[in-house]
Amino acid sequence: MGVKVSGARAVASCLDFSLSSKSIAGETQRKIQPKPEQRRHGTSLQVAHCLLRDSMVRRVAVIGAGVSGLASVKSCLDEGLEPTCFEKSEDIGGLWRYTDSTDSGRVSVYRSIITNTSKEMSCFSDFPCPEDFPSFLPHSLLLEYFRMYAQHFDLLRHIRFKTTALSVRKRPDFTTSGQWEVVTETDGIQESHIFDAVMVCTGHFQEPYLPLASFPGIDTHFKGQYIHSREYRDVEAFRGKRVLVIGIGNTGGDLSVELSRVAAKVFLSVRSSTWVFSRISDHGFPFDMVNTTRFNHFLDWLLPSALTKRIRFWKFNSWFNHKNYGLASTKSSNFKIIINEELPFCLLSGTVVLKPKVKAFTESSAVFEDGTEQNIDVVLFATGYIFSFPFLEESVRSLFDDNRSLYKRIFPPQLEKPTLAIIGLVQLTGSVMVGAEMQARWVTGIFAGWNKLPPTSRMMAEVSKKKPQVKRNPSERENLKMSFISYTDEIASCAGVKPNVLRLLLTDPRLALAVFFGPCSPYQYRLMGRGKWSGARDAILTQWQRTLKPLRTRVVDDPSDSWHWMYLLALPVALTAGLLLSKSPRLGWTLGAPQL
Ligand SMILES: Cc1cc2nc3c(=O)[nH]c(=O)nc-3n(C[C@H](O)[C@H](O)[C@H](O)COP(=O)(O)OP(=O)(O)OC[C@H]3O[C@@H](n4cnc5c(N)ncnc54)[C@H](O)[C@@H]3O)c2cc1C
Ligand SMILES: NC(=O)c1ccc[n+]([C@@H]2O[C@H](COP(=O)([O-])OP(=O)(O)OC[C@H]3O[C@@H](n4cnc5c(N)ncnc54)[C@H](OP(=O)(O)O)[C@@H]3O)[C@@H](O)[C@H]2O)c1
Repeated sequence: MGVKVSGARAVASCLDFSLSSKSIAGETQRKIQPKPEQRRHGTSLQVAHCLLRDSMVRRVAVIGAGVSGLASVKSCLDEGLEPTCFEKSEDIGGLWRYTDSTDSGRVSVYRSIITNTSKEMSCFSDFPCPEDFPSFLPHSLLLEYFRMYAQHFDLLRHIRFKTTALSVRKRPDFTTSGQWEVVTETDGIQESHIFDAVMVCTGHFQEPYLPLASFPGIDTHFKGQYIHSREYRDVEAFRGKRVLVIGIGNTGGDLSVELSRVAAKVFLSVRSSTWVFSRISDHGFPFDMVNTTRFNHFLDWLLPSALTKRIRFWKFNSWFNHKNYGLASTKSSNFKIIINEELPFCLLSGTVVLKPKVKAFTESSAVFEDGTEQNIDVVLFATGYIFSFPFLEESVRSLFDDNRSLYKRIFPPQLEKPTLAIIGLVQLTGSVMVGAEMQARWVTGIFAGWNKLPPTSRMMAEVSKKKPQVKRNPSERENLKMSFISYTDEIASCAGVKPNVLRLLLTDPRLALAVFFGPCSPYQYRLMGRGKWSGARDAILTQWQRTLKPLRTRVVDDPSDSWHWMYLLALPVALTAGLLLSKSPRLGWTLGAPQL
């Protein structure tokens, strides 16, 4: 999973040897740090505007009120900026606001969805999820949490609902002012506004990706139905049908499992090696809390990649052998992973049948690349989404055909003024929500004049270093995710809020160990720097309690609890060691030396 950062930089990044964020990010941090003015929740900087000497930005347009938009409005307020958020629907939550109808054309999750990142690893960094919420949330609870956040930080009054951003264009004096003209529409009435900066928070998943051209016969011969997963709400329309699901992303996996309970037969067509991982890790803890640690990230850097790959494959295959199930082989070069606890059992019980790529469709069947053929009533394309920003003026939109054209996946580097930021257009091995909040914090710091971007030439150089030379065929879209810790740390470094583990080790060893060996939860980015939150330490030290709390609905007293055993074992070991040392004070120093 890990994306490697090179050489000494990586060591510094893993171990936080770098006392300054400058070396990694290349950004210059301003020295003046105002005293944090603690809010009700103990966080948030309200920066007096008179302090923003060289910043031209005051009014910020935030487009979209999903998780990225909410984090952006909050970060603007923290920096003393004036956000106005335009949301085309009537409510917050973005794709997490489930509705039965798909008529509005809005992308929303399906009814049965459960988050695949845990609450402790996905929450806003200064607002932990309620402790009685389960670790993995259905859409209703996640939306409830967003509502709590919006209410707590009084964000709603900055949002204009049922207002669509129709166009975002540079002002004629953009090269000096950096300003944008935003045209919006509310109830058929258009309005034009001038903003000093724009944060685009319209999400990664706006338009269904329906690659019909790759499926000969689907439009010309096939008499059955086909739909994209965006239209899917629940199983009803599929009862008793023979269904072919195309694509094994998280959606393809989830929907195959769900449909297997009511459909006559479910086939899942897969074109690339896929490893299946469970949300439940060792001892039943959430997988992301167990695996996404700075220690593991450090090991990833330290050990040869061939070895880490082997360890990973061994771990994946220790649950079930992916080759036997036709899913992935240890020879495959990619690490595409989906999260699904039930799919292996569906395969084992035959309620979902894996098939290779479809070669063509006939009137009533799908012919697969291995020559086999199956009668099919409905084809469900779980082929993912594409992003688009139709409201951005063409000259700006054309600057980024994929998110790798953006500096740090946020800023179009060619703009004369860095007053346009794309938030949430990133795919991570961990929570996108945490990544988006981190981006919003850094961006608003730049708008407010506390952080600066490097010169255009440096940004362009970094972008072209990271972007592949050859443009790929859209049907071979890369599903590349970046390492969660690498990316969030990189942005946190730019913002000057990356935790310094070595410094913590000297000042607060207990916390340092929790930060290094424990889950890399978002609170870590509130321990120091701008936006420091006084509750961050406690949130880190109590994250496991909040994880277990919702399971304590029936408490079992188990004397075999491993910790008790450890205490019991520790006592005799300590007594024996003490005895030996008292008998021979030099023993401790001579162990291992030849006995005379
Ligand atoms: C099915 C699914 C499951 C996922 N599960 C997880 C998970 O478990 N954990 C995780 O971290 N991430 C997950 N993700 C990633 C997901 O992208 C983030 O969780 C997050 O919801 C993205 O929020 P966003 O605000 O960037 O975009 P969205 O939630 O898409 O919000 C965009 C908002 O912009 C509004 N908008 C769009 N255009 C305009 C316009 N022109 N004018 C005004 N408003 C506009 C939309 O109405 C919408 O409200 C999942 C994604 C999908 C598709
Ligand atoms: N529970 C959850 O939290 C949950 C549930 C669902 C989705 N999600 C998230 O939502 C986002 C979208 O997920 P998604 O599963 O809808 O999309 P996705 O991750 O983009 O997966 C799309 C799938 O379609 C396949 N595909 C694309 N084009 C194809 C073609 N021409 N022929 C055959 N196969 C093709 C891809 O294969 P390749 O891999 O070979 O490209 C891939 O398997 C992801 O971030 C995902 O993590 C989360």
